[in-house]
Amino acid sequence: SNPSLLILPGDGIGQEVMAEVKKIIDWFGDKQDLKFDVSEDLVGGAAYDAHGTPLHDDTMAKAQEVDAVLLGAVGGPKYDDLDFSVKPERGLLRLRKEMDLFANLRPAQCFDALADFSSLKKDIVSGLDIMIVRELTSGSYFGEPRGIFTENNERVGINTQRYTESEIERVARSAFELAKRRGNKVCSMEKANVMESGILWRDVVTEVHQADYADVELSHMYADNGAMQLVRAPKQFDVILTDNLFGDLLSDCAAMLTGSLGMLPSASLGSPMENGRPKAMYEPVHGSAPDIMGQNKANPSACILSFAMALRYSFDQGDAATMLEKAVESVLAKGIRTADLMQADGGKAIGTSEMGDAIINELNAN
Ligand code: NAI
Ligand code: MG
Repeated sequence: SNPSLLILPGDGIGQEVMAEVKKIIDWFGDKQDLKFDVSEDLVGGAAYDAHGTPLHDDTMAKAQEVDAVLLGAVGGPKYDDLDFSVKPERGLLRLRKEMDLFANLRPAQCFDALADFSSLKKDIVSGLDIMIVRELTSGSYFGEPRGIFTENNERVGINTQRYTESEIERVARSAFELAKRRGNKVCSMEKANVMESGILWRDVVTEVHQADYADVELSHMYADNGAMQLVRAPKQFDVILTDNLFGDLLSDCAAMLTGSLGMLPSASLGSPMENGRPKAMYEPVHGSAPDIMGQNKANPSACILSFAMALRYSFDQGDAATMLEKAVESVLAKGIRTADLMQADGGKAIGTSEMGDAIINELNAN
């Protein structure tokens, strides 16, 4: 049977960009005989409107069964005053938590045609292709104890950075496996100089490396230096492996090396299922962009490139993934662009659906 894909467009521009991905999925089915069993459901505000919950139990169950989930974006001003327990982002968090998606993959790739949009000089970022692997389900955002307590007549806010050996080991394995398919280099970032969890992190990564990945080049770096190096000379890196908190900061920093939010895909992976594929959810980094929703202005590239990641990491279709990425790059190189990628004097921007069509034209041309 065909591999299965659950599509959750969500809210705002999530629906608009997903419409373009659906065209591309159809193209692969028609022209490459690469077919998927696609189902579609609600998440976020859309699910709240229909069911009074940002993620219905049936949707959650479906997400657990499919080979991959592709999500658009959730949220919007309409839902800002809802109780925390039913806020749109709770739908997303529930998916990540119940699927146990512990490895967050954030590529930072700089297409030459967009190097002018980087926060850095062109020669520093041109040709950049790095992958940040951020641990997503543990560390300071989850560790106990946490809370605001009273001590000696004043309040104290507490979060705990806590990592178990097995939590570090599994995300380290994800990073080494990825490196083998890329540039064969992992740089692990922590602060072993001042943090116990950092010492354990470094030890466990080193042990996993020696036991099973000795042929991958491994280096360690303190995360503050890592932030500096990312801005000074980012092309020295291939895969960066780091924890939840540092990964949050480092991946946002790396994102700005490449330019627009409309270009950034991501993947979140969990443990292998019975068929050997990892549990997986793919989504653009951007949100639901209420300021441009419903106007055919959103750049669908981030969501399309997220589908390319699904092709590569869930469906073993690396060639198809590369074909799709190259098509996006060629369209941009020809100056065919949505408004977020236009320079002030850059001519006329095209819309969301025209961008999707242009990418399909490019696929047809090759
Ligand atoms: P946002 O990412 O939605 O938008 C930030 C800015 O970037 C806006 O000016 C927007 O127009 C622009 N932008 C974003 N994606 C774009 C695209 N594909 N093409 C062109 N321009 C694009 O972040 P913001 O405004 O902070 O949040 C809006 C809503 O989205 C909130 O409700 C927030 O909670 C939610 N959100 C959801 C996320 C998710 O579903 N993973 C992630 C971030 C925010
Ligand atoms: Mg962040």
